[in-house]
Amino acid sequence: MKNLLLLLFIVLVQYSFGQPLYKDKKAPVESRINDLVKRMTLEEKILQLNQYTLGINRNVNNIGEELKSLPAGIGSLIYFNADPVKRNDVQRKAMEESRLGIPILFGFDVIHGFRTIYPISLAQACSWNPALVTQNCSVAAKEAVLSGVDWTFSPMIDVARDPRWGRVAEGYGEDPYTNAVFGVATVKGYQGKKLSDPYSVAACLKHYIGYGMSEGGRDYRSADISAQSLWETYIPPYEACVKAGAATLMSAFNDISGVPATANRYTLTEILKKRWAHDGFVVSDWNAIEQLIAQGVAKDKKEAGLKAFLAGVEMDMKDNIYFENLKQLVAEKKIPMSLVDESVARILRVKFRLGLFDEPYATVLDEKDRYLQPESKALAARLTEESIVLLKNTNKTLPFAASLQKLAVIGPMAKDKENLLGSWAQNGKATDVESIYEGLEKEFKNKLQLSYAKGGDFDGLDESGFQEAIAVAGQSDVILVCLGEKNSWSGESASRSTIALPGIQEKLVVALKKTGKPIVLVLSNGRPLELVRLESIADAIIELWQPGVAGGTPLAGVLSGRVNPSGKLSITFPLTTGQIPTYYNMRQSSRPFGKMGDYQDISTEPLYWFGHGLSYTTFTYSSAKLSSARIKKNQQLTVEVTVTNTGAVKGKEAVLWYISDPAASISRPMKELKFFEKKEINAGEKMVYRFEIDPMRDLSFTDATGKRILETGDFFIHINDQKLKFELTD
Ligand code: BGC
Repeated sequence: MKNLLLLLFIVLVQYSFGQPLYKDKKAPVESRINDLVKRMTLEEKILQLNQYTLGINRNVNNIGEELKSLPAGIGSLIYFNADPVKRNDVQRKAMEESRLGIPILFGFDVIHGFRTIYPISLAQACSWNPALVTQNCSVAAKEAVLSGVDWTFSPMIDVARDPRWGRVAEGYGEDPYTNAVFGVATVKGYQGKKLSDPYSVAACLKHYIGYGMSEGGRDYRSADISAQSLWETYIPPYEACVKAGAATLMSAFNDISGVPATANRYTLTEILKKRWAHDGFVVSDWNAIEQLIAQGVAKDKKEAGLKAFLAGVEMDMKDNIYFENLKQLVAEKKIPMSLVDESVARILRVKFRLGLFDEPYATVLDEKDRYLQPESKALAARLTEESIVLLKNTNKTLPFAASLQKLAVIGPMAKDKENLLGSWAQNGKATDVESIYEGLEKEFKNKLQLSYAKGGDFDGLDESGFQEAIAVAGQSDVILVCLGEKNSWSGESASRSTIALPGIQEKLVVALKKTGKPIVLVLSNGRPLELVRLESIADAIIELWQPGVAGGTPLAGVLSGRVNPSGKLSITFPLTTGQIPTYYNMRQSSRPFGKMGDYQDISTEPLYWFGHGLSYTTFTYSSAKLSSARIKKNQQLTVEVTVTNTGAVKGKEAVLWYISDPAASISRPMKELKFFEKKEINAGEKMVYRFEIDPMRDLSFTDATGKRILETGDFFIHINDQKLKFELTD
């Protein structure tokens, strides 16, 4: 009652002094939203539900023409120009020329850095260092804000188990828990402590939901996902990130067993808005509303708009369908006015929380002060160091011995810059990138004699450079072969029927092997590769991924031993493309994996499992100890292991804790990652790693409706090569 009177008083005061409540910085956000929505006409509301573009979209999949005249009252713009001045001009128009002065929300795809491009998301997860990811995302947010961007279409948390799909590069791999943890770390980095902080941007979880299951690894295809897998595999990262406060979500292109994600009331409204009480908004993906026609669930744009809107998509990305049809749909009573109001309120809420009404303009700094600050590049380099995965290292080929004198550097990736940026790096510039060769020159100046030959290209048939490469290699002590994928080979609409490198690259390695010199393979790519023909030829293999601006020095540090590699794979490398899908958390099956029923012509095992990664030191695990062999459902269990660095150099070890449940009412995966922790251990020292098991969180599973079930019985903890049993009782 007291509060109501206070509110009434504020309203009266404001009306009498002419300042509308929604403009009052001190008024509670919800009162400001209510006040504003009440003042809006239907036309003004509908404009808020639309997003247009400003500047030219350089994404080849989404050619959009630049609009000549933008309505001042538009809800959002995708901002392709990266110029705070131009953005502020457009914002000024919205603030001064629209009747109510509602700020525009400027969005953009900031995926792995804005200008200081850091490693692709798939690589980030191999670091097992979410805190470092948060720090890098804060840099991205700051650079974005200083470029006029308030909202990023990231993180992508689509669990992806088919490396043919180009978009595996954009997410955190095959495991739901890993996607959840790194998704949350990313949201924290972007959104900061609160959205209204000066350098926070709103996050957008995408692509809600099931896009990673696009059939056959092709892009934009149907995704046949059972309700059970939806809940157990695809939903967990979204649930975690929504709980962590992610402001918005993007609806996916795919359908979920026939119902497009963009017209899916169950996922968009029942789950997201009702069960999880998400109070931000959902934007459709590019053209996703119109595509409902192509997907076979709408006869025309009007019906597509109706279906998307009723399902729970509040903002129409670029299709103009809401703009053209919503007024009529409201008049025909197909869309209730209350839903329009609620949708507008959700969009305004994000704008208010970002502080856009109170501070609508971006700070304008000199370009040199906006981007690529030394501490930002240092953070990117640290993330690269920790994302690099040492896949193979026979006979201690690495780090290079002190006696090494001549290093041959061969391959199309050795001096390349553009491709190290990876996909989705629209503001990234090749000139910002340190190439592998440049990194080597710095690291080994006056220590090693470097020689270089490109050898061949990324693809094609031209072998004319092989001879020179062989000659250069023949003069050296070790050959460093730098291969990989062009950045256009992964990302959106970049699926590949084989995950092997093109034949020309494999042939180059075979040719070099004839010199008899040790071969160190460096790979820069956006997906797991089929390495079956290269693995036996290479003495050592380093997965560099697509590191962004800071690749050369971290890689050179790994080669010299200045950096001890600590990355472990966030996605399995199948032995061959035909082995797809192979992921560590496959469901248990009638004749267990590796026993019967696998391919006749190849081994059952993939080349490198999820979690694989070598170090220059050795970590010895003690026998893990459980605090009890039996716990009740309402008790906690602690499991501990002591890891000793038994080698000669310090190193970082990520301990991955898995659980398996051999007998449940719904068959569980072979094992599931539940917790991980990475610590640095000095040579000769030890560290205790501890996992506190909370039965409801770690031992339960969902049924096909999302209901959590906790069953008594035996469970196992898997850590390294140990398997410990315990029992859960009532
Ligand atoms: C992609 C999204 C992206 C959007 C806007 C779409 O084609 O699927 O991931 O956020 O374009 O650029």
